[in-house]
Amino acid sequence: MELPFAESYRIKMVENLHKSTREEREKWIKEAKYNLFNLKSEYVYIDMLTDSGTGAMSDRQWAAIMEGDESYAGATSFYRLKESIMDITGLEYVLPTHQGRAAENVLFSAIVKEGDYLPGNSHFDTTKGHIEYRKAHAIDCTIGEASDTELEIPFKGNMDLGKLEDVLKSHPAGKIPAVVLTITNNTAGGQPVSMENIRGVSELCHKYGVKLLIDSARFAENAYFIKTREKGYADKSIKEIVREIYSYADYMTMSAKKDGIVNIGGFLAFRDEKDMQKCQMFSIMYEGFLTYGGMAGRDMNALARGLQESMDFDYLSTRIGQVAYLASKLDEYGIPYQRPAGGHAIFVDAKKILTNLPKEQFQAQTLAVELYLEGGIRGVEIGALLADRDPETRENRYPRLELLRLAVARRVYTNNHMDYVAAALKNVYDRRESIRTGYRITRELPVMRHFTIELERVRQI
Ligand code: F0G
Repeated sequence: MELPFAESYRIKMVENLHKSTREEREKWIKEAKYNLFNLKSEYVYIDMLTDSGTGAMSDRQWAAIMEGDESYAGATSFYRLKESIMDITGLEYVLPTHQGRAAENVLFSAIVKEGDYLPGNSHFDTTKGHIEYRKAHAIDCTIGEASDTELEIPFKGNMDLGKLEDVLKSHPAGKIPAVVLTITNNTAGGQPVSMENIRGVSELCHKYGVKLLIDSARFAENAYFIKTREKGYADKSIKEIVREIYSYADYMTMSAKKDGIVNIGGFLAFRDEKDMQKCQMFSIMYEGFLTYGGMAGRDMNALARGLQESMDFDYLSTRIGQVAYLASKLDEYGIPYQRPAGGHAIFVDAKKILTNLPKEQFQAQTLAVELYLEGGIRGVEIGALLADRDPETRENRYPRLELLRLAVARRVYTNNHMDYVAAALKNVYDRRESIRTGYRITRELPVMRHFTIELERVRQI
């Protein structure tokens, strides 16, 4: 008998979870104004809000924490981190930051001006926020196929090279500080970008004299998909693939809270020393001195190690295999989601489930609240609330997809937890016809409103 694939690690420490009753959850979610970000974590049984900063560190990362060098300047921990990043990406110049959006803030402070254009494949919300806050434009050039949730194609996160070239052609290079390529494409469903597409984007960047920024939060997961799905890469190691990816990049922003497998941290890396120098002033102003930039020495040590661990093929198979396992349960129950399953999460297709609800009542948010009420599971809306209002018209933007993202933390939950999640979702799915009203907004911020938004239930008439 062939031996099944099993985890390449075992558990050394456990954290108890809190179960609750439906009555308790009804009270808590109402008090939270139907925004799951407002819930205390002890009110949640299985937390799938995000895979960001929620991973379990290894014994070797914890050991590295004890060796942190907390010197203000020139800490050995910084050099350890820099070496690890150089080893993986080949990019020589590094600025640490406290997390990914801080890296965006530092870089965009240096390169983005009012009226600029930054084309990309579904910019993440903080990236879009930092661009639009500077009165520049984030232009989405994701392939059209990404919005057909039923279509199974291997690289659904790709950039549409035709759309990208149209943007590059119609604006002077001086107005385009960078093309932003996000790997994996989080907003489109944790979908990977192929090496062929990365190469194609880079060729267009060269042709039009524009720099390529790789938003790298899930670079190792993207490399796993290239190895397992793209012709010519099966025999290459994850490290070789990652090296090739970054051979095309000019800048890299990294939220280390994902594939760095740390609870906090981020960085910027550059090919050209001059680009790094342009950012130094902002790094010092916003983050801290150049050799710590908002991170403790111990955290830089843990990250240096975590980056290497995230490239282990067996670890990636376990992690991405767990997301695929959850997807297989949803298949069994006939629940629609963005296909194929992504690297870090399942994106349930709320529009296809809550067909009775108008988009103005926020289908994905409604589904998120129902799943919480059903089983104490916290997911996150990737739909109209996240999409914010149009910065000019102030009208709500209704994206083509209304998704409920169920993100899987790294090395944290077991497949029994996945079974529980799938069963709770099935119960909601079975009673979908009875969910006849959604929510309306009672308070919101002008940018990145979904974190703090307040809602009330629309009354049935
Ligand atoms: N880029 C991508 C692709 C991301 O997914 C995130 C964060 C960031 C940048 C910003 O990084 O949180 O460290 O400041 N994504 C998290 C999520 C929050 O839940 O998907 P950060």
